[in-house]
Amino acid sequence: MKSAVPLAIALLASQTSSTDLLSPEKIEAEINTINLQRNLWNLNHIANGNGGNRAFGLPGYKASSDYILERVQERFANEFDTSLQYFNHTFEQTRNISVTGPDGEDVLVKTLLYNSPTPLPGGITAQLIDTPVDDSRGSACFEDQWTGINASGKLALVKRGTCAIADKLKLAKGHGALGVILWNNIAGEPASATLSAANIGLLVPVGVIQQDVGQVWSARLSAGEELVVNLLVDAIFEQRESWNIITETKAGDPNNVVFLGAHLDSVQAGPGINDDGSGTSALLEIASAFRHYKNIPNKVRFAWWGAEESGLIGSLHYTSSLTEVEADKIRFYLNYDMIGSPFPIYTIYKNDGQGGDVGAQALLDYLVAAGKPAYYGSFGSSSDYVGFLQLGIPASGIFTGAGAPADFCYHLSCDTTANINEESLTINAKAAGVVAAKLALSLDGVPPRNKTSVNPRSRMQIRAMLTMWNVVTEDAAHAHSCSHKSQNIV
Ligand SMILES: *[C@@H]1O[C@H](CO)[C@@H](O)[C@H](O)[C@H]1NC(C)=O
Ligand SMILES: *[C@@H]1O[C@H](CO)[C@@H](O)[C@H](O)[C@H]1NC(C)=O
Ligand SMILES: *[C@@H]1O[C@H](CO)[C@@H](O)[C@H](O)[C@H]1NC(C)=O
Ligand SMILES: *[C@@H]1O[C@H](CO)[C@@H](O)[C@H](O)[C@H]1NC(C)=O
Ligand SMILES: [Zn+2]
Repeated sequence: MKSAVPLAIALLASQTSSTDLLSPEKIEAEINTINLQRNLWNLNHIANGNGGNRAFGLPGYKASSDYILERVQERFANEFDTSLQYFNHTFEQTRNISVTGPDGEDVLVKTLLYNSPTPLPGGITAQLIDTPVDDSRGSACFEDQWTGINASGKLALVKRGTCAIADKLKLAKGHGALGVILWNNIAGEPASATLSAANIGLLVPVGVIQQDVGQVWSARLSAGEELVVNLLVDAIFEQRESWNIITETKAGDPNNVVFLGAHLDSVQAGPGINDDGSGTSALLEIASAFRHYKNIPNKVRFAWWGAEESGLIGSLHYTSSLTEVEADKIRFYLNYDMIGSPFPIYTIYKNDGQGGDVGAQALLDYLVAAGKPAYYGSFGSSSDYVGFLQLGIPASGIFTGAGAPADFCYHLSCDTTANINEESLTINAKAAGVVAAKLALSLDGVPPRNKTSVNPRSRMQIRAMLTMWNVVTEDAAHAHSCSHKSQNIV
Protein backbone atom coordinates (compact mmCIF):
# COMPACT_ATOMS: atom_id res chain seq x y z
CA MET A 1 0.00 0.00 0.00
CA LYS A 2 2.76 2.35 0.87
CA SER A 3 4.46 1.97 -2.46
CA ALA A 4 1.16 1.93 -4.30
CA VAL A 5 0.49 5.56 -3.51
CA PRO A 6 3.52 7.12 -5.21
CA LEU A 7 2.98 4.76 -8.10
CA ALA A 8 -0.60 5.89 -8.51
CA ILE A 9 0.49 9.50 -8.31
CA ALA A 10 3.24 8.91 -10.84
CA LEU A 11 0.80 7.16 -13.13
CA LEU A 12 -1.74 9.93 -12.76
CA ALA A 13 0.89 12.57 -13.34
CA SER A 14 2.15 10.94 -16.50
CA GLN A 15 -1.39 10.44 -17.79
CA THR A 16 -2.31 14.01 -17.00
CA SER A 17 0.72 15.48 -18.69
CA SER A 18 0.19 13.45 -21.85
CA THR A 19 -3.52 14.24 -22.19
CA ASP A 20 -2.82 17.82 -21.16
CA LEU A 21 -0.43 18.46 -24.03
CA LEU A 22 -1.83 21.10 -26.28
CA SER A 23 -1.67 20.32 -29.97
CA PRO A 24 -3.28 21.87 -33.05
CA GLU A 25 -4.80 18.47 -33.90
CA LYS A 26 -6.54 18.17 -30.54
CA ILE A 27 -8.01 21.66 -30.80
CA GLU A 28 -9.12 20.87 -34.34
CA ALA A 29 -10.83 17.67 -33.21
CA GLU A 30 -12.76 19.40 -30.45
CA ILE A 31 -14.43 21.93 -32.74
CA ASN A 32 -17.59 20.59 -34.35
CA THR A 33 -20.56 21.76 -36.37
CA ILE A 34 -23.18 20.87 -33.77
CA ASN A 35 -21.69 23.10 -31.07
CA LEU A 36 -21.03 25.93 -33.52
CA GLN A 37 -24.66 25.71 -34.67
CA ARG A 38 -25.98 25.59 -31.13
CA ASN A 39 -24.36 28.95 -30.38
CA LEU A 40 -25.85 30.42 -33.55
CA TRP A 41 -29.27 29.05 -32.68
CA ASN A 42 -29.00 30.69 -29.26
CA LEU A 43 -27.87 34.03 -30.70
CA ASN A 44 -30.74 33.93 -33.21
CA HIS A 45 -33.13 33.12 -30.38
CA ILE A 46 -31.75 36.06 -28.38
CA ALA A 47 -32.38 38.40 -31.32
CA ASN A 48 -35.90 37.07 -31.79
CA GLY A 49 -36.68 37.75 -28.15
CA ASN A 50 -35.20 41.26 -28.25
CA GLY A 51 -36.75 43.11 -31.17
CA GLY A 52 -34.95 41.19 -33.91
CA ASN A 53 -31.37 42.26 -33.28
CA ARG A 54 -28.36 42.17 -30.96
CA ALA A 55 -27.24 45.73 -31.67
CA PHE A 56 -25.20 48.23 -29.67
CA GLY A 57 -27.28 50.01 -27.03
CA LEU A 58 -30.20 47.56 -27.20
CA PRO A 59 -31.22 44.63 -24.98
CA GLY A 60 -30.16 41.96 -27.50
CA TYR A 61 -26.53 42.98 -26.96
CA LYS A 62 -26.78 42.51 -23.20
CA ALA A 63 -28.42 39.10 -23.70
CA SER A 64 -25.65 38.09 -26.14
CA SER A 65 -23.07 39.23 -23.62
CA ASP A 66 -24.75 37.19 -20.88
CA TYR A 67 -24.60 34.14 -23.15
CA ILE A 68 -20.83 34.49 -23.59
CA LEU A 69 -20.25 35.28 -19.90
CA GLU A 70 -22.23 32.27 -18.71
CA ARG A 71 -19.58 30.23 -20.45
CA VAL A 72 -16.27 32.04 -20.10
CA GLN A 73 -16.86 33.79 -16.78
CA GLU A 74 -18.84 31.10 -14.97
CA ARG A 75 -18.18 27.68 -16.42
CA PHE A 76 -14.57 28.38 -17.43
CA ALA A 77 -13.71 30.35 -14.29
CA ASN A 78 -10.93 27.93 -13.31
CA GLU A 79 -9.15 28.20 -16.64
CA PHE A 80 -9.90 31.74 -17.85
CA ASP A 81 -9.71 35.28 -16.48
CA THR A 82 -12.53 37.44 -17.81
CA SER A 83 -13.12 41.16 -17.69
CA LEU A 84 -15.52 43.66 -19.19
CA GLN A 85 -14.24 46.90 -20.65
CA TYR A 86 -16.89 49.61 -20.72
CA PHE A 87 -17.19 52.61 -23.04
CA ASN A 88 -19.81 55.16 -24.09
CA HIS A 89 -20.85 55.93 -27.63
CA THR A 90 -23.60 57.80 -29.41
CA PHE A 91 -26.62 55.63 -29.96
CA GLU A 92 -29.20 56.33 -32.63
CA GLN A 93 -32.46 54.60 -33.22
CA THR A 94 -35.08 55.37 -35.83
CA ARG A 95 -38.36 54.82 -34.01
CA ASN A 96 -40.48 55.51 -37.05
CA ILE A 97 -39.88 56.23 -40.72
CA SER A 98 -42.32 56.67 -43.59
CA VAL A 99 -42.39 57.90 -47.17
CA THR A 100 -45.67 58.86 -48.78
CA GLY A 101 -45.54 58.99 -52.57
CA PRO A 102 -47.02 61.56 -55.00
CA ASP A 103 -50.29 59.62 -55.25
CA GLY A 104 -50.70 59.33 -51.47
CA GLU A 105 -49.33 55.80 -51.44
CA ASP A 106 -47.25 54.34 -48.59
CA VAL A 107 -43.86 53.32 -49.95
CA LEU A 108 -41.54 50.70 -48.45
CA VAL A 109 -38.69 52.64 -46.83
CA LYS A 110 -35.61 51.75 -44.79
CA THR A 111 -33.62 53.93 -42.45
CA LEU A 112 -29.84 54.21 -41.99
CA LEU A 113 -27.89 54.24 -38.75
CA TYR A 114 -27.45 57.82 -37.43
CA ASN A 115 -30.31 59.15 -39.56
CA SER A 116 -31.50 62.67 -38.67
CA PRO A 117 -35.05 63.36 -37.52
CA THR A 118 -37.53 65.41 -39.56
CA PRO A 119 -39.95 67.80 -37.87
CA LEU A 120 -42.74 65.87 -36.15
CA PRO A 121 -45.53 64.88 -36.25
CA GLY A 122 -45.96 65.74 -39.93
CA GLY A 123 -42.49 65.13 -41.35
CA ILE A 124 -41.46 67.03 -44.49
CA THR A 125 -43.91 67.46 -47.36
CA ALA A 126 -42.15 69.01 -50.33
CA GLN A 127 -41.59 68.97 -54.05
CA LEU A 128 -39.25 66.23 -55.26
CA ILE A 129 -36.34 67.18 -57.52
CA ASP A 130 -34.08 64.78 -59.37
CA THR A 131 -30.27 64.61 -59.34
CA PRO A 132 -28.13 63.15 -62.13
CA VAL A 133 -27.12 59.49 -62.02
CA ASP A 134 -23.39 58.77 -62.13
CA ASP A 135 -22.63 55.10 -61.59
CA SER A 136 -18.88 55.40 -62.04
CA ARG A 137 -18.17 58.06 -59.40
CA GLY A 138 -21.42 57.64 -57.50
CA SER A 139 -24.41 59.98 -57.81
CA ALA A 140 -24.58 63.38 -56.08
CA CYS A 141 -21.38 62.76 -54.13
CA PHE A 142 -19.26 65.54 -55.58
CA GLU A 143 -19.82 69.28 -55.74
CA ASP A 144 -19.73 69.39 -59.57
CA GLN A 145 -22.61 66.91 -59.74
CA TRP A 146 -24.84 69.50 -58.07
CA THR A 147 -24.05 72.31 -60.53
CA GLY A 148 -27.21 74.12 -61.51
CA ILE A 149 -29.36 72.32 -58.96
CA ASN A 150 -31.25 74.53 -56.52
CA ALA A 151 -32.63 72.12 -53.95
CA SER A 152 -33.74 74.86 -51.61
CA GLY A 153 -36.88 73.78 -49.76
CA LYS A 154 -37.10 70.53 -51.75
CA LEU A 155 -36.64 66.81 -51.23
CA ALA A 156 -33.85 65.51 -53.48
CA LEU A 157 -34.13 62.17 -55.28
CA VAL A 158 -30.67 60.53 -55.32
CA LYS A 159 -29.43 57.15 -56.54
CA ARG A 160 -27.53 54.98 -54.04
CA GLY A 161 -24.18 53.31 -54.74
CA THR A 162 -20.39 53.62 -55.18
CA CYS A 163 -19.74 56.55 -52.82
CA ALA A 164 -20.52 57.23 -49.17
CA ILE A 165 -24.17 58.07 -48.51
CA ALA A 166 -23.10 60.64 -45.91
CA ASP A 167 -21.36 62.63 -48.69
CA LYS A 168 -24.60 62.74 -50.68
CA LEU A 169 -26.55 63.96 -47.66
CA LYS A 170 -23.92 66.57 -46.80
CA LEU A 171 -24.06 68.07 -50.31
CA ALA A 172 -27.85 67.91 -50.33
CA LYS A 173 -27.86 69.97 -47.14
CA GLY A 174 -25.32 72.37 -48.64
CA HIS A 175 -27.61 72.87 -51.62
CA GLY A 176 -30.63 73.65 -49.49
CA ALA A 177 -32.48 70.33 -49.62
CA LEU A 178 -34.73 69.49 -46.68
CA GLY A 179 -34.18 65.77 -47.07
CA VAL A 180 -33.13 63.01 -49.45
CA ILE A 181 -35.12 60.15 -50.94
CA LEU A 182 -32.35 57.67 -51.71
CA TRP A 183 -33.28 54.98 -54.23
CA ASN A 184 -31.51 51.67 -54.03
CA ASN A 185 -29.01 50.75 -56.74
CA ILE A 186 -29.99 47.08 -56.67
CA ALA A 187 -33.35 45.31 -56.63
CA GLY A 188 -34.86 44.03 -53.39
CA GLU A 189 -35.05 45.22 -49.82
CA PRO A 190 -32.54 48.05 -49.26
CA ALA A 191 -29.73 47.02 -46.87
CA SER A 192 -28.77 48.99 -43.81
CA ALA A 193 -25.70 51.24 -43.71
CA THR A 194 -24.23 53.72 -41.29
CA LEU A 195 -23.92 57.47 -41.73
CA SER A 196 -21.59 57.45 -38.69
CA ALA A 197 -21.91 59.37 -35.47
CA ALA A 198 -19.26 61.85 -36.65
CA ASN A 199 -21.75 63.33 -39.13
CA ILE A 200 -24.46 64.16 -36.63
CA GLY A 201 -25.79 67.63 -37.42
CA LEU A 202 -24.16 67.77 -40.88
CA LEU A 203 -26.73 65.78 -42.82
CA VAL A 204 -30.36 65.99 -43.93
CA PRO A 205 -32.86 63.24 -43.07
CA VAL A 206 -32.99 60.33 -45.52
CA GLY A 207 -35.34 57.52 -46.46
CA VAL A 208 -34.08 54.61 -48.60
CA ILE A 209 -36.66 53.33 -51.09
CA GLN A 210 -36.61 50.42 -53.51
CA GLN A 211 -35.00 50.66 -56.92
CA ASP A 212 -38.15 50.23 -59.03
CA VAL A 213 -39.99 53.02 -57.18
CA GLY A 214 -37.03 55.38 -57.58
CA GLN A 215 -36.77 54.65 -61.29
CA VAL A 216 -40.47 55.41 -61.84
CA TRP A 217 -40.29 58.70 -59.91
CA SER A 218 -37.13 59.73 -61.75
CA ALA A 219 -38.80 59.01 -65.10
CA ARG A 220 -41.89 61.00 -64.14
CA LEU A 221 -39.74 63.97 -63.08
CA SER A 222 -37.77 63.94 -66.31
CA ALA A 223 -41.09 63.85 -68.19
CA GLY A 224 -41.82 67.18 -66.52
CA GLU A 225 -44.29 66.07 -63.86
CA GLU A 226 -44.32 67.83 -60.52
CA LEU A 227 -44.21 65.32 -57.64
CA VAL A 228 -44.86 66.14 -54.00
CA VAL A 229 -43.83 63.53 -51.44
CA ASN A 230 -43.63 63.22 -47.65
CA LEU A 231 -40.67 61.98 -45.59
CA LEU A 232 -41.03 61.34 -41.87
CA VAL A 233 -38.11 60.27 -39.67
CA ASP A 234 -38.55 59.94 -35.92
CA ALA A 235 -35.00 59.35 -34.62
CA ILE A 236 -33.44 59.64 -31.17
CA PHE A 237 -29.81 60.23 -30.25
CA GLU A 238 -28.19 59.69 -26.87
CA GLN A 239 -25.02 58.39 -25.22
CA ARG A 240 -25.26 54.74 -24.25
CA GLU A 241 -22.83 52.50 -22.47
CA SER A 242 -21.52 49.31 -24.03
CA TRP A 243 -18.61 46.95 -23.41
CA ASN A 244 -16.07 44.49 -24.75
CA ILE A 245 -15.70 41.04 -23.22
CA ILE A 246 -12.04 40.10 -22.78
CA THR A 247 -11.08 36.65 -21.57
CA GLU A 248 -7.71 34.92 -21.50
CA THR A 249 -6.19 31.61 -20.52
CA LYS A 250 -4.76 31.66 -17.01
CA ALA A 251 -2.01 29.48 -18.43
CA GLY A 252 0.64 30.88 -20.74
CA ASP A 253 3.26 33.59 -20.79
CA PRO A 254 1.57 36.96 -20.25
CA ASN A 255 4.40 38.65 -22.16
CA ASN A 256 3.55 36.70 -25.33
CA VAL A 257 -0.13 36.91 -26.09
CA VAL A 258 -1.98 35.41 -29.05
CA PHE A 259 -5.18 37.40 -29.53
CA LEU A 260 -8.41 36.32 -31.26
CA GLY A 261 -11.23 38.80 -31.89
CA ALA A 262 -14.81 38.75 -33.19
CA HIS A 263 -17.56 41.33 -32.74
CA LEU A 264 -20.55 40.46 -30.63
CA ASP A 265 -22.96 43.19 -31.78
CA SER A 266 -25.23 43.00 -34.83
CA VAL A 267 -26.76 45.78 -36.89
CA GLN A 268 -30.21 46.98 -35.79
CA ALA A 269 -31.68 45.58 -39.00
CA GLY A 270 -31.25 41.91 -38.14
CA PRO A 271 -29.95 39.16 -35.86
CA GLY A 272 -26.39 39.17 -37.30
CA ILE A 273 -25.83 35.43 -37.46
CA ASN A 274 -23.17 35.39 -40.16
CA ASP A 275 -22.15 38.96 -39.19
CA ASP A 276 -20.77 38.14 -36.70
CA GLY A 277 -22.45 35.28 -34.88
CA SER A 278 -20.13 33.10 -36.97
CA GLY A 279 -16.92 34.56 -35.50
CA THR A 280 -18.53 34.82 -32.07
CA SER A 281 -19.43 31.13 -32.11
CA ALA A 282 -16.01 30.08 -33.40
CA LEU A 283 -14.21 31.95 -30.61
CA LEU A 284 -16.47 30.40 -28.01
CA GLU A 285 -15.73 26.89 -29.26
CA ILE A 286 -11.99 27.57 -29.52
CA ALA A 287 -11.98 28.85 -25.94
CA SER A 288 -13.90 25.73 -24.87
CA ALA A 289 -11.24 23.58 -26.51
CA PHE A 290 -8.29 25.44 -24.94
CA ARG A 291 -9.87 24.93 -21.57
CA HIS A 292 -8.63 21.35 -21.51
CA TYR A 293 -4.93 22.22 -21.71
CA LYS A 294 -2.78 23.62 -18.95
CA ASN A 295 0.61 23.61 -20.63
CA ILE A 296 -0.02 26.56 -22.92
CA PRO A 297 3.33 28.28 -23.59
CA ASN A 298 1.88 31.58 -24.85
CA LYS A 299 -1.22 33.12 -23.35
CA VAL A 300 -4.34 33.12 -25.55
CA ARG A 301 -6.70 36.08 -25.25
CA PHE A 302 -10.18 36.32 -26.76
CA ALA A 303 -12.24 39.47 -27.32
CA TRP A 304 -15.88 39.79 -28.20
CA TRP A 305 -16.01 43.40 -29.33
CA GLY A 306 -18.91 45.78 -28.74
CA ALA A 307 -20.31 48.43 -31.12
CA GLU A 308 -18.33 47.23 -34.15
CA GLU A 309 -21.24 48.04 -36.45
CA SER A 310 -21.28 51.63 -35.21
CA GLY A 311 -17.67 52.09 -36.39
CA LEU A 312 -15.32 49.57 -34.69
CA ILE A 313 -15.94 51.46 -31.47
CA GLY A 314 -15.16 48.69 -28.95
CA SER A 315 -11.92 47.51 -30.54
CA LEU A 316 -10.70 51.06 -31.13
CA HIS A 317 -11.46 51.84 -27.53
CA TYR A 318 -9.42 48.81 -26.48
CA THR A 319 -6.41 49.46 -28.72
CA SER A 320 -6.30 53.16 -27.99
CA SER A 321 -6.32 52.43 -24.26
CA LEU A 322 -3.35 50.05 -24.38
CA THR A 323 -0.04 51.24 -22.94
CA GLU A 324 3.11 50.73 -25.02
CA VAL A 325 4.11 47.90 -22.72
CA GLU A 326 0.76 46.13 -23.04
CA ALA A 327 0.73 46.57 -26.82
CA ASP A 328 4.22 45.00 -27.05
CA LYS A 329 2.95 41.87 -25.33
CA ILE A 330 0.32 41.23 -28.00
CA ARG A 331 2.32 39.21 -30.48
CA PHE A 332 -0.40 38.36 -32.99
CA TYR A 333 -3.99 39.46 -33.62
CA LEU A 334 -6.45 37.25 -35.55
CA ASN A 335 -9.79 38.66 -36.68
CA TYR A 336 -12.84 36.51 -37.42
CA ASP A 337 -15.71 38.58 -38.78
CA MET A 338 -18.12 36.80 -41.17
CA ILE A 339 -16.64 33.34 -41.55
CA GLY A 340 -19.80 31.42 -42.48
CA SER A 341 -21.04 33.22 -45.61
CA PRO A 342 -23.51 31.06 -47.59
CA PHE A 343 -21.42 31.30 -50.78
CA PRO A 344 -18.00 31.66 -49.19
CA ILE A 345 -15.05 33.46 -50.72
CA TYR A 346 -12.15 32.35 -48.53
CA THR A 347 -10.11 35.48 -47.96
CA ILE A 348 -7.09 35.40 -45.64
CA TYR A 349 -5.93 38.86 -44.57
CA LYS A 350 -2.29 39.54 -45.35
CA ASN A 351 -0.48 42.82 -45.90
CA ASP A 352 3.15 43.03 -46.97
CA GLY A 353 5.27 44.48 -44.20
CA GLN A 354 2.68 43.89 -41.48
CA GLY A 355 4.53 40.93 -40.02
CA GLY A 356 1.49 38.68 -40.09
CA ASP A 357 2.87 36.19 -42.61
CA VAL A 358 3.29 33.23 -40.25
CA GLY A 359 -0.35 33.31 -39.17
CA ALA A 360 -1.67 34.08 -42.66
CA GLN A 361 0.35 31.22 -44.15
CA ALA A 362 -0.91 28.77 -41.52
CA LEU A 363 -4.53 29.78 -42.15
CA LEU A 364 -4.06 29.47 -45.91
CA ASP A 365 -2.34 26.10 -45.63
CA TYR A 366 -5.15 24.72 -43.51
CA LEU A 367 -7.91 25.84 -45.87
CA VAL A 368 -6.07 24.72 -48.98
CA ALA A 369 -5.42 21.31 -47.41
CA ALA A 370 -9.16 21.15 -46.67
CA GLY A 371 -9.78 21.64 -50.38
CA LYS A 372 -10.95 25.25 -50.20
CA PRO A 373 -9.94 27.89 -52.75
CA ALA A 374 -8.46 30.27 -50.17
CA TYR A 375 -6.46 33.28 -51.26
CA TYR A 376 -4.70 36.26 -49.70
CA GLY A 377 -6.53 39.57 -49.60
CA SER A 378 -5.36 42.81 -48.08
CA PHE A 379 -6.86 44.32 -44.97
CA GLY A 380 -9.36 47.07 -45.61
CA SER A 381 -10.65 49.36 -42.90
CA SER A 382 -13.65 47.23 -42.34
CA SER A 383 -13.30 45.34 -39.11
CA ASP A 384 -11.72 45.21 -35.68
CA TYR A 385 -8.17 44.59 -36.90
CA VAL A 386 -7.80 48.31 -37.69
CA GLY A 387 -6.66 49.38 -34.22
CA PHE A 388 -4.15 46.50 -34.01
CA LEU A 389 -2.63 47.31 -37.41
CA GLN A 390 -2.30 50.93 -36.37
CA LEU A 391 -0.22 49.78 -33.42
CA GLY A 392 2.04 47.71 -35.70
CA ILE A 393 0.90 44.36 -34.28
CA PRO A 394 1.21 41.41 -36.72
CA ALA A 395 -2.27 40.34 -37.77
CA SER A 396 -4.32 38.12 -40.02
CA GLY A 397 -7.77 36.51 -40.06
CA ILE A 398 -10.46 35.00 -42.26
CA PHE A 399 -13.34 36.73 -44.05
CA THR A 400 -15.76 34.87 -46.34
CA GLY A 401 -17.43 37.85 -47.97
CA ALA A 402 -20.26 40.36 -47.41
CA GLY A 403 -23.07 41.17 -49.81
CA ALA A 404 -23.72 39.51 -53.16
CA PRO A 405 -22.58 37.00 -54.27
CA ALA A 406 -21.16 35.69 -50.96
CA ASP A 407 -23.90 36.79 -48.55
CA PHE A 408 -27.17 38.17 -49.90
CA CYS A 409 -28.45 38.78 -46.36
CA TYR A 410 -25.60 41.06 -45.29
CA HIS A 411 -26.99 43.58 -42.78
CA LEU A 412 -30.54 42.40 -43.43
CA SER A 413 -33.20 40.76 -41.28
CA CYS A 414 -32.56 37.50 -43.17
CA ASP A 415 -29.05 37.14 -41.64
CA THR A 416 -30.43 34.25 -39.55
CA THR A 417 -29.29 30.67 -38.91
CA ALA A 418 -30.44 29.97 -42.48
CA ASN A 419 -27.74 32.37 -43.71
CA ILE A 420 -24.81 30.14 -42.80
CA ASN A 421 -22.74 27.68 -44.78
CA GLU A 422 -22.14 25.16 -42.00
CA GLU A 423 -19.33 23.36 -43.72
CA SER A 424 -17.48 26.60 -44.33
CA LEU A 425 -18.06 27.83 -40.79
CA THR A 426 -16.77 24.55 -39.34
CA ILE A 427 -13.64 24.50 -41.50
CA ASN A 428 -12.89 28.14 -40.76
CA ALA A 429 -13.43 27.67 -37.04
CA LYS A 430 -11.09 24.66 -37.11
CA ALA A 431 -8.53 26.68 -39.08
CA ALA A 432 -8.78 29.45 -36.48
CA GLY A 433 -8.38 26.91 -33.65
CA VAL A 434 -5.42 25.19 -35.27
CA VAL A 435 -3.60 28.47 -35.90
CA ALA A 436 -4.34 29.70 -32.38
CA ALA A 437 -2.82 26.46 -31.04
CA LYS A 438 0.23 26.72 -33.30
CA LEU A 439 0.93 30.28 -32.19
CA ALA A 440 0.18 29.41 -28.57
CA LEU A 441 2.86 26.73 -28.83
CA SER A 442 5.41 28.77 -30.74
CA LEU A 443 5.81 32.30 -32.05
CA ASP A 444 8.81 31.37 -34.18
CA GLY A 445 8.93 33.60 -37.22
CA VAL A 446 6.55 36.19 -35.78
CA PRO A 447 8.39 39.51 -35.70
CA PRO A 448 8.02 41.85 -32.74
CA ARG A 449 5.61 44.75 -33.07
CA ASN A 450 6.82 47.00 -35.89
CA LYS A 451 7.03 50.34 -34.14
CA THR A 452 8.49 52.06 -37.21
CA SER A 453 5.16 51.43 -38.92
CA VAL A 454 3.51 53.27 -36.07
CA ASN A 455 3.07 56.91 -36.70
CA PRO A 456 3.91 58.76 -33.45
CA ARG A 457 0.48 60.31 -33.70
CA SER A 458 -1.15 56.95 -34.39
CA ARG A 459 -2.52 56.51 -30.90
CA MET A 460 -4.02 59.97 -31.08
CA GLN A 461 -5.38 59.09 -34.49
CA ILE A 462 -7.07 55.99 -33.15
CA ARG A 463 -8.59 58.19 -30.47
CA ALA A 464 -9.64 60.67 -33.09
CA MET A 465 -11.26 57.91 -35.12
CA LEU A 466 -13.56 57.18 -32.24
CA THR A 467 -15.18 60.53 -32.71
CA MET A 468 -14.19 61.72 -36.17
CA TRP A 469 -14.12 58.52 -38.14
CA ASN A 470 -12.47 60.29 -41.05
CA VAL A 471 -9.71 57.78 -41.69
CA VAL A 472 -11.99 54.83 -41.98
CA THR A 473 -14.59 56.62 -44.01
CA GLU A 474 -11.96 57.76 -46.48
CA ASP A 475 -10.26 54.40 -46.64
CA ALA A 476 -13.55 52.66 -47.13
CA ALA A 477 -14.62 55.05 -49.84
CA HIS A 478 -11.41 54.33 -51.73
CA ALA A 479 -11.24 50.63 -50.95
CA HIS A 480 -11.17 48.46 -54.02
CA SER A 481 -11.26 45.21 -52.10
CA CYS A 482 -14.42 43.48 -50.99
CA SER A 483 -13.93 44.82 -47.48
CA HIS A 484 -17.26 44.67 -45.84
CA LYS A 485 -17.63 48.02 -44.19
CA SER A 486 -16.98 49.82 -47.46
CA GLN A 487 -20.52 48.71 -48.24
CA ASN A 488 -21.62 49.73 -44.83
CA ILE A 489 -21.31 53.44 -45.62
CA VAL A 490 -22.35 53.23 -49.29
C1 LIG B 1 -21.04 56.63 -19.59
O1 LIG B 1 -21.82 57.77 -19.36
C2 LIG B 1 -22.55 57.73 -18.13
C3 LIG B 1 -23.44 58.97 -18.08
O2 LIG B 1 -22.70 60.11 -18.32
C4 LIG B 1 -21.58 57.64 -16.96
O3 LIG B 1 -22.30 57.53 -15.75
C5 LIG B 1 -20.71 56.43 -17.14
O4 LIG B 1 -19.73 56.39 -16.13
C6 LIG B 1 -20.01 56.45 -18.49
N1 LIG B 1 -19.28 55.23 -18.68
C7 LIG B 1 -18.03 55.22 -19.13
C8 LIG B 1 -17.39 53.88 -19.27
O5 LIG B 1 -17.41 56.22 -19.41
C1 LIG C 1 -45.27 56.42 -37.99
O1 LIG C 1 -45.56 57.56 -38.75
C2 LIG C 1 -46.73 57.41 -39.57
C3 LIG C 1 -46.82 58.63 -40.42
O2 LIG C 1 -46.91 59.80 -39.62
C4 LIG C 1 -47.93 57.21 -38.68
O3 LIG C 1 -49.08 57.03 -39.47
C5 LIG C 1 -47.70 55.98 -37.82
O4 LIG C 1 -48.75 55.84 -36.90
C6 LIG C 1 -46.37 56.09 -37.05
N1 LIG C 1 -46.12 54.83 -36.39
C7 LIG C 1 -45.74 54.78 -35.13
C8 LIG C 1 -45.46 53.41 -34.60
O5 LIG C 1 -45.60 55.76 -34.43
C1 LIG D 1 -33.12 78.73 -54.86
O1 LIG D 1 -34.52 78.64 -54.76
C2 LIG D 1 -35.04 79.41 -53.70
C3 LIG D 1 -36.50 79.07 -53.52
O2 LIG D 1 -37.05 78.51 -54.67
C4 LIG D 1 -34.80 80.88 -53.99
O3 LIG D 1 -35.30 81.68 -52.93
C5 LIG D 1 -33.29 81.10 -54.10
O4 LIG D 1 -33.04 82.43 -54.48
C6 LIG D 1 -32.70 80.16 -55.12
N1 LIG D 1 -31.27 80.28 -55.04
C7 LIG D 1 -30.51 80.42 -56.13
C8 LIG D 1 -29.05 80.51 -55.89
O5 LIG D 1 -30.97 80.46 -57.24
C1 LIG E 1 7.85 48.22 -40.55
O1 LIG E 1 6.92 49.10 -41.16
C2 LIG E 1 7.49 49.97 -42.10
C3 LIG E 1 6.43 50.95 -42.54
O2 LIG E 1 5.27 50.28 -42.96
C4 LIG E 1 8.08 49.15 -43.25
O3 LIG E 1 8.66 50.00 -44.19
C5 LIG E 1 9.11 48.18 -42.70
O4 LIG E 1 9.57 47.33 -43.73
C6 LIG E 1 8.52 47.33 -41.60
N1 LIG E 1 9.57 46.55 -40.96
C7 LIG E 1 9.47 45.23 -40.81
C8 LIG E 1 10.60 44.60 -40.10
O5 LIG E 1 8.53 44.58 -41.25
ZN1 LIG F 1 -19.05 42.30 -39.07
